[in-house]
Amino acid sequence: MEIKERGNWSSQFGFIAAAAGSAVGLGNIWRFPYITGLYGGAAFVLVYLLFVVLVCIPIMNSELLVGRKSGKNALGAFKELVPKSSWWIVGLMGIIAGFVILSYYSVIAGWATAYIFKSGAYMAAGANPADVFVGFITSPVTPIIWHAIFMIMCIGVVSAGIEKGIEKYSKILMPALVVILLVLIVRALTLPGAGAGVSFYLKPDFGKLSAEGILAALGQAFFSLSLGMGCMITYGSYLKKDQDIPANSYWIAGTDTAIALLAGLAIFPAVFAFGLEPGTGPALTFITVPAVFASMGAIGHLFGILFFFLLTIAALTSAISLLEVVCAYFIDEKKWNRKKAVWIMGFVIFLLGVPSSLGQGVWSSYKFIGGRDFLDSLDFIASNVLLPLGGFLLCIFIGWYWGTGKAIEEGNIGAKGGITLGGGYRFLIKYVAPVAIFIVFLKSIGVF
Ligand code: TRP
Repeated sequence: MEIKERGNWSSQFGFIAAAAGSAVGLGNIWRFPYITGLYGGAAFVLVYLLFVVLVCIPIMNSELLVGRKSGKNALGAFKELVPKSSWWIVGLMGIIAGFVILSYYSVIAGWATAYIFKSGAYMAAGANPADVFVGFITSPVTPIIWHAIFMIMCIGVVSAGIEKGIEKYSKILMPALVVILLVLIVRALTLPGAGAGVSFYLKPDFGKLSAEGILAALGQAFFSLSLGMGCMITYGSYLKKDQDIPANSYWIAGTDTAIALLAGLAIFPAVFAFGLEPGTGPALTFITVPAVFASMGAIGHLFGILFFFLLTIAALTSAISLLEVVCAYFIDEKKWNRKKAVWIMGFVIFLLGVPSSLGQGVWSSYKFIGGRDFLDSLDFIASNVLLPLGGFLLCIFIGWYWGTGKAIEEGNIGAKGGITLGGGYRFLIKYVAPVAIFIVFLKSIGVF
C-alpha cells in the first residue's frame, strides 16, 4: 500500500480500533480515577455518565459526520462546509487545544513508559510506592527523557501515515489491557478493607458534589472521548461513505466508558485498603497500582510490567490522535509534507511539555490557575474550558447554522443497523447539549 498524504481507513474494524484507541488512554486509567477521587466519588461518576449520554454521544456523531462530509482536518472542515464564514475559528481553537493537551499528555505518558522498567524493581526493593513515585517525578532530568522517548514513539507512528501507522498499532493491544484491568479488579476487591472503596465509588453522596465537580465531570467526558477539539472530525475525514457513523459512536463511547468504570473499580478499593487518600490527585494511579501488584508477590511484578506496557500503548494510540489533528492541519492547509509537519510539531510540543515536567519538582513553587502547577493549569484550561467550549460551538454550528437536516442526512449514510440519527439527536444537539454546557459554565464561574 502506498503512503498517501491523505489516506482512508482500510476497514470498518480499523476505524473503530483507531477511534476507540484515541478515546481509551490515560484519560480512562489515570485521569478518571484521580478526578473522581478529587470530586467525591459516586455522585461525580453519575454526573459524568449523564454528560456522556446527553452531551457527548451527540457530539461524537456530529464530529464524525462533519469530518466525513468535508473530508478535511478540524479547521478545513468548516472552511469546506461553510466557506466565507468565521466557523474555521472553532477548528483553530481545537488545534490549539490538541497542541496544549499533547504537551502534558506526553509527560504523563512518559511516567507510564518509565514505570514499565521501574515498577518491578521498586516492588522488589519493597519501597513505599508513594515515595518512589514522588522521587521519580520530582527529579529534573529523568522524566523529561521519558517524555522525549514517548514523543519520539508518537512521531514515529504518525509519520508513517494514517493507514500504515495508526491503524496497525491501534487494533491489537486493547483487549489485553482490559484483561489485566480485570486481574487488578479481582485483586483489589479481595484486599482487606476494600469495601470502603467500593462504597466511595458506587454509593452516591450528592452533598459532596460541587459546581467545580460538575464542570470537572463535563471536562472529563470530553477529554475521555477525545471530543471538542476536532479529533473525531479528523478521524471522520478518513471514513468512507459505507461506514456506519451512529453505530460507531455508540461503540466508541461504550467501550471508553466501560474501561474508565473498570479502572475506577480497580483503583478505589485498593486506595481504601491501603489507607491512601482518594483525593491524592494526578499521582493516584501511579501509586495505587504498584501497591496492588506488590501485594501479589512475584507474579505481581510481571503484571506490573505488563500493565504499564499496555497503559503506554493505550496512551500512544491516544497521543497519535492528538498529533494527527495538529499535523493534518499543516498537511492540508499549509501543504507541508507529512514528515515535516510531524517532526516540527512534535518537537515544539515536546518543548511545551518541559515546564509541565519541571513543575513537579524544581519549579513546583510556580503556581497558576487556582494554585495549580503548570501541568494541572494547562489541563484545567484545555479540558474544562477549551474542550467544552469547542463542543458547545459545534452544537451551535450543527443545530443552528449548518442545520440538523443536513447533519442527519450525512450521518445516516452507511447506517445499516437499527440505530440512525433522528429526532432524538436533533433535540439533544440543538437544545440539551448546548444548554447543559452553558449552565455548567455559568455555574462554575459562580453566576448562580
Ligand atoms: N481521550 C484520550 C484519553 O482518554 C486523550 C485524547 C486523545 C484526547 N485525543 C483527544 C482528549 C482529543 C481530548 C481531545 O486518554
